[in-house]
Amino acid sequence: MTVHFIGAGPGAADLLTLRGRDLIAASPVCLYAGSLVPEGVLAHCPPGARIVNTAPLSLDGIIAEIAAAHAAGKDVARLHSGDLSIWSAMGEQIRRLRALGIPFSVTPGVPSFSAAAAALEAEFTLPGLAQTVVLTRTPGRASAMPEGEKLAAFAATGAVLAVHLSIHLLDKVVAELTPHYGADCPVAIVWRASWPDQRTVRATLGSLDAAVGTEMERTALILVGRTLGSADFDESRLYAADYDRRYRPVGAEPRFPEAS
Ligand SMILES: C[S@@+](CC[C@H](N)C(=O)[O-])C[C@H]1O[C@@H](n2cnc3c(N)ncnc32)[C@H](O)[C@@H]1O
Repeated sequence: MTVHFIGAGPGAADLLTLRGRDLIAASPVCLYAGSLVPEGVLAHCPPGARIVNTAPLSLDGIIAEIAAAHAAGKDVARLHSGDLSIWSAMGEQIRRLRALGIPFSVTPGVPSFSAAAAALEAEFTLPGLAQTVVLTRTPGRASAMPEGEKLAAFAATGAVLAVHLSIHLLDKVVAELTPHYGADCPVAIVWRASWPDQRTVRATLGSLDAAVGTEMERTALILVGRTLGSADFDESRLYAADYDRRYRPVGAEPRFPEAS
C-alpha cells in the first residue's frame, strides 16, 4: 500500500501529468484538497473509489483516513492543487507518514504560476530585465511570514514576484511594492488560471486599482515585474549566430572542438 501525493495542476483537468492520471486511476481511495482540485481530475478515479474532500478535515482526520486505507491495504491518491512543492501542506503529512511507517510517493504537478504565465503568454525571465522569479505570499491568519521574507526585501532585488494567497490584500501589496518598482511597473492579475472562467487584468502598479474594479474571486495570482508585457529586451546570447557553444561550434577555433 502506498500514498501517492499528486500535484493536480492549476485547474484545467488536462493539465495533469500522465503519471498522476494513472496513479489516480489505480488507487481505490482518493483524498482531494477542496474546490481547487477540478472534478475532471476526480473523474480518473476508478469506479467505486472512496473519494473524500479533505477541506473540512483536520490533519488528524486526514491521517486517520490514510491509516484506515493502509490497514485495508488500499492505495491512496492524495491530490493537492498545482504543484506539491509550494503551499500544499504535504510536508506535515509526509512527516506523519514517516513516523507511522506508511510508504508514499510524490508526483509533481503544474503550478499555478506557470498556468498564469501561460495565460499571459509571458516569459518571466527576459535577458537584461529580470532573471529571477520569487514565489511568495503575504502573511495570513494561519501563516506568519518568517522575519526577512518581507515583500519589500524581495522587491529590492527587482525580481519578478508571483504573489500568492494575497489578492484580498491587493492594496497593501501595491503600496509595499510601488516604492521599489515604481508606479509605472507592469503588473498582472490572473484569476483562476486555466479554469474555463479564467480572467486576466494587466495594468501598472499605479493604475491597477482602477483596472481591477470589484472582482471578488480569491483564487488569483499577483504578478509584478519589468518583464511583464515588455517587448524591449535583449535576445538571448545562446541562440545568437556568433555564439560558440558545444552543440553549434562557431569559428576557426571553437571552444568545444571535440563536439564538431
Ligand atoms: C494554497 S495555494 C496552492 C498553490 C499551489 N500548490 C500551486 O502550485 O500553485 C493557493 C493559492 O495559489 C494561487 N492559485 C492556485 N491556483 C490558481 C489558479 N488556477 N489561478 C490563479 N492562482 C491560483 C492563488 O494565489 C491561491 O490563493
